[in-house]
Amino acid sequence: MTRMLRLACATPRRWLDQVEGRLDLLLIDHAHCEKKAAGTAMNLIFHYVEHEDLCRALSEIVREELEHFNLVLDLLKERGVRFKRLPPSSYGGKLNELVAKQEPQRAIDRMLVAALIEARSCERFGLLAERLREREPKLAQFFASLFESEARHHSTYIRFAHVFGSESAVAARLEELAAAEARIIHEGDPEPRMHS
Ligand SMILES: [Fe+2]
Ligand SMILES: [Fe+2]
Repeated sequence: MTRMLRLACATPRRWLDQVEGRLDLLLIDHAHCEKKAAGTAMNLIFHYVEHEDLCRALSEIVREELEHFNLVLDLLKERGVRFKRLPPSSYGGKLNELVAKQEPQRAIDRMLVAALIEARSCERFGLLAERLREREPKLAQFFASLFESEARHHSTYIRFAHVFGSESAVAARLEELAAAEARIIHEGDPEPRMHS
């Protein structure tokens, strides 16, 4: 699965152990992640308006991420958990530090970082679906239902990175960024989060 998602490492075992006793907190963080994913796609539309196909694909992602956001809010409500502000994990910030400042490299990096975040979320939804199947069947089913669309978002971002760079330049940069992502995942985060 990590191969299909172009990730350089599988999620370490310690992550499921860290989050499985803190599911309500994880869901709050998950809602923030979906909102952030919509925001990222929206920002990219603002920056790359001249690429029509990209903008259309991104607006589809914005719609889907907001739908996911609403679904997580529904789940929180059902569980009697109030949505609230939560300090994010350090994952997104660390990844964004790797993004080049100059175009067109910046565009490639933004697409690839977004692709890696989608991939990691997708991988983790799969792990959660499996781990929670018996104890929290409804939640497990929900995570499983998100798997496919996040995998699609991953592929979309990879595809559009090629608008800004050659096949070989994108492949080389993806390898670098995936290796960096794997290091960040291994550093982890003391707080239980979707990307801790
Ligand atoms: Fe999503
Ligand atoms: Fe997504």
